[in-house]
Amino acid sequence: MTTHDSQTIALPRDTNVDRAWWKEAVVYQIYPRSFNDSDGTGVGDIPGITEKADYLDELGVDVVWLCPVYDSPNADNGYDIRDYRSIMDEFGTMTDWEALRDALHERDIRLIMDLVVNHTSKQHVWFQKSRRCEDGYEDYYHWQDGDPDEPPNNWQSIFGGPAWSYDEERGQWYLHLFDPEQPDLNWRNPDVRDAVADVVTWWLEKGIDGFRLDAIDHLSKADGYPDGDSDEPITGLEHFSHGPRLREYLTELATAFEGYDTMTVGEMGGADIEQVDEYTGEGGLNTVFQFEHMGVTAGPDGPWDPEQFGEWDLTDLKEIIGQQQGEIDWPALFFGNHDQPRLVSHFGDDEAYREESAKLVATFLLTLRGTPYIYQGEEIGMTNDVFSSLDELDDPMTVGIVEELLEEGAIDTYDDAADLVNHRSRDHARTPMQWSDEPNAGFTTGDPWFAANENYTDINVESSLTDPDSVWNHYRRLIDLRHDEDAFVYGEYDDLLPDDEQLYAYTRTLGDERMLVVLNWSDDTATLDDLVVETSHAEVVLSNYDGVSDDPSAGSFDPYEATVYRVGST
Ligand code: GLC
Repeated sequence: MTTHDSQTIALPRDTNVDRAWWKEAVVYQIYPRSFNDSDGTGVGDIPGITEKADYLDELGVDVVWLCPVYDSPNADNGYDIRDYRSIMDEFGTMTDWEALRDALHERDIRLIMDLVVNHTSKQHVWFQKSRRCEDGYEDYYHWQDGDPDEPPNNWQSIFGGPAWSYDEERGQWYLHLFDPEQPDLNWRNPDVRDAVADVVTWWLEKGIDGFRLDAIDHLSKADGYPDGDSDEPITGLEHFSHGPRLREYLTELATAFEGYDTMTVGEMGGADIEQVDEYTGEGGLNTVFQFEHMGVTAGPDGPWDPEQFGEWDLTDLKEIIGQQQGEIDWPALFFGNHDQPRLVSHFGDDEAYREESAKLVATFLLTLRGTPYIYQGEEIGMTNDVFSSLDELDDPMTVGIVEELLEEGAIDTYDDAADLVNHRSRDHARTPMQWSDEPNAGFTTGDPWFAANENYTDINVESSLTDPDSVWNHYRRLIDLRHDEDAFVYGEYDDLLPDDEQLYAYTRTLGDERMLVVLNWSDDTATLDDLVVETSHAEVVLSNYDGVSDDPSAGSFDPYEATVYRVGST
């Protein structure tokens, strides 16, 4: 039995909401390489996505965010772009891409692309020209003189190792905040900014509906490239995140969007909650991915702390979500993506309560204020995989960081990091989408580029569609509910039990309409006593358990129960 402190809640009655389609949308993120292979090459492709347009429509999503499909040598699975205006051969052709765009639009699903302009591939023609110092391209990247054995400063790459590599051809160091194959563009150069704006216009003219902007908080680097504080988890981050000219660059970039009906969401891995609104609104981005809640499972040395990871307290999550809900003008809501562990493994119980906890996190995602993002596979409760050696990994970040831990002596062998990798690696999110119990999860008839999680025989789309109680059907109902109830989109969020370690209860109130969400985020039963909200007219609108009472204080909540009530008029 748990007890709860009461608190008073202020209820706004103003229903004059500032509507926008991108606020009311539910977004579905596709990592094309792992989504669906149409031609048996073992690699997911664009026609494979088009084949699934009806699937997306049935799920009820409004927008697809397509991870990079541009021509790329794939040092980082497409996040290293060689040509912004052409499609990667493995994924198909521009005609295939146009067919996908049209298939989505015919179903009223919008399409946003991934704009990766903090860096390019080393094979991009801009880098090729820059390393040869060709006229006009000398300063397209961050070049620094120096002894070939001594990088210009102590900055670390986000993927592990130094952030500088020496280029023999030019005889200088170049900066790469990610892989050495991903040199950072020099945004101080107005020609670079113009060239990026041209890319944006080119794609907008092709009829897309916006962009997710990759690693966008890193565009501006501190003048003089000062050394960073080596006690921080990533040395130098304070000098290459939220740099002095970031807002100026974003404002300039925003002019390329003028006159188009688009949405933008910027990935800002290092943004504090207070910083988000600096970059959004008039002349900025529409929204920003703020990552603080994803860090609740991290240790003191960050998400890759080999000593401490995975443990977390519900009250910490509530505090962060409360701040995001209260302080960010329009939050971008997510609990997983292609860089994160699988949502149910990260925030739920992927064993005994896999279905219940996957539905619970889904309920949370789809009843908060902001624009929700569903990552492929979440809708069937896909889980983390198990990787027992470095050879089984693909992700350059995981490999780079494990190698760095080995080098620093923080671990002696891969086995010392295996639990961390099996908790955290980006590879978990990149195992093929589990369509059926056919070989390779029905993802490909060929040899898959990356092995499917063996649990596909139990967890797959085909069986989910026919089971009315599946995680998939729960997502569909939640999406419908969100579309039907403005209170979930625009309503005020109030946390009723900020100090409770087991139950998360909050209301969403819009004018006279009030919804109550109660999540038992634990594998024990829980009871609710002092709910400071009137529930005499409460009725259940959705739950992940059967036979739930309309009165939230009548009985107990089952493990990972997630129940949504209409508590009626305020
Ligand atoms: C972003 C992407 C990630 C990529 C990195 C470098 O964080 O989400 O997948 O590796 O940027 O482009």
